Amino acid sequence: MNGTTLILQDPAAVALDAAERLLALIAAKPEGNFSLGLSGGSTPQRLFKLLAEEPWRGQIPWQRIHVFFADERFLPHDHPDSNYYSAEQLLLAHVPIPAENLHPMPTDTTAEDGASRYEAELKAYFGDAKPRFDLILLGMGPDGHTASLFPGQSHPFGPWVLPVHNSPKPPPTRLTLSLEIINLAHNVLFLVTGTDKAEAIGQIRDSSKPPLPAGQIKLEAGDLVWLLDEAAGL
Ligand code: 6PG
Repeated sequence: MNGTTLILQDPAAVALDAAERLLALIAAKPEGNFSLGLSGGSTPQRLFKLLAEEPWRGQIPWQRIHVFFADERFLPHDHPDSNYYSAEQLLLAHVPIPAENLHPMPTDTTAEDGASRYEAELKAYFGDAKPRFDLILLGMGPDGHTASLFPGQSHPFGPWVLPVHNSPKPPPTRLTLSLEIINLAHNVLFLVTGTDKAEAIGQIRDSSKPPLPAGQIKLEAGDLVWLLDEAAGL
C-alpha cells in the first residue's frame, strides 16, 4: 500500500489517532488558513463527535480552518444522507467556525453544474493553481471506492470535481474530487474500520491484483497515512 499504515485496536483508537494527527498538522502550519477536506459515510462520524468536544474543540483554531468536501451525495444539505448534513450535525454546528469557512458542494441544480461551481469555489480559495489541500480525510468502501470514485467508473484527469452518476452506493448521483486533486494534497488520512473492508485492503496490498480507487491514492508530494482498525487491517 502507498504511504504509511497503522493498525489500531478499534474504531475509537482510529478516531483518537486521527484527531491527534489533525491537531499536529494544524500546529505545523501556524500561519494562514488550513484547508480540510471531509468525507462522508459512517467512519468519520466518531471523529467528528470527538472534535466537537473538549479537549479537542478548544485546541483547534476554528477561525483558520476551511472545511471542504471530498465528495457529496446529490441531496439537499438538510437531508439526513447528505455528507454536509452529517458533518454539520456532528461537528460544524458545535464549533465556532465562521460560516464563510464552510464550503459545501452545491447540490441544488445538476451534478454537472455543481461540479463546475465547486471547481470555481476551489479556484476562489486556492487561486488558479491546482488546489493542494492541507489535509483530506478519506474513507473506503468494501469495494475499494474512496470519495465517490468507484471501481469500473471513469475518473478522468483534467477536471478538479467530477459529477458521478449510477453510483453503486446510493444515492446514485454524487460529486467527487478527482483522483488528480486528491493526489495533490499535502496530507491524506484514510480512516478504514470493520471486517467488511478487509478484503479490499488485502487487494490493495497485493500489487498483482487490479488497482482499486482507494489504492490509486498516491500523493505526488505529500504524506499518506492509512489508519486501520484490526478488523480491517489484520
Ligand atoms: C460517501 C463517502 C464514501 C465513504 C465510504 C466508506 O459519500 O459515502 O464519502 O466514500 O467514505 O463509502 O463509508 P463508511 O465509512 O460508511 O464505511
